Amino acid sequence: MSKIFVLAIDGPAASGKGTIGRMLAEKYGLDYLDTGSLYRAVALQMLRAQVPLDSESSAEAIAKSLDLDLTSDPEIRSSRLAEAAATIAALPKVRAQLKVIQRQFAQRHPGAVLDGRDIGTVVCPDADIKLYVTASPEIRAKRRFLELQAAGSPLSEAEVLADVMARDKRDTERATSPLKPAEDAHLLDTSNLSIETAFGSAVDIIETHRG
Ligand code: C5P
Repeated sequence: MSKIFVLAIDGPAASGKGTIGRMLAEKYGLDYLDTGSLYRAVALQMLRAQVPLDSESSAEAIAKSLDLDLTSDPEIRSSRLAEAAATIAALPKVRAQLKVIQRQFAQRHPGAVLDGRDIGTVVCPDADIKLYVTASPEIRAKRRFLELQAAGSPLSEAEVLADVMARDKRDTERATSPLKPAEDAHLLDTSNLSIETAFGSAVDIIETHRG
């Protein structure tokens, strides 16, 4: 069988990395993992069990035997769960457990697209191609606001912007695996791009740089 192809996509919330990642996985016939859903699933299991979010040993145990069905539970998509996920994502033992799941996923044929915050830097440092997808906080907040509004959320755009900025701060400033581009990542700023144009740019990067 041919060599496994791994595409690592990192970037902040609502940068478009998930949509682009899914489209790329489909185009190249690869599996796709939204790694944020793992952090959200751990947070959901903790909240349901009424375990305090700063209990690292409980979070580690939950991450170790994670119920992967929770990654498709609609409840993980709420802003409450986004915030809870960012809280438990700062716990090194949780990250270590989830790294095992993510690496196993990335090692299967024919290869995979993983999107998250530390894929190119920590989870798959040897990925074939790394993309760092970003956009201004205001544009990301507008996108997330429209999604949440369509889902019936009462949050204002200003509240969503405050949430996005708070999460960026947590994700970039945490001590373990902070959000940052890998040195060999290709930057893709989607601020002024439609999703189709952003996808086209990502394909161009891959076609130019894959071996
Ligand atoms: O990508 P998503 O918004 O679903 O991620 C939720 C939270 O999970 C992020 O704000 C981040 O704190 C955490 N996360 C992470 N590392 C990843 C993916 C997500 O720390 N690879």
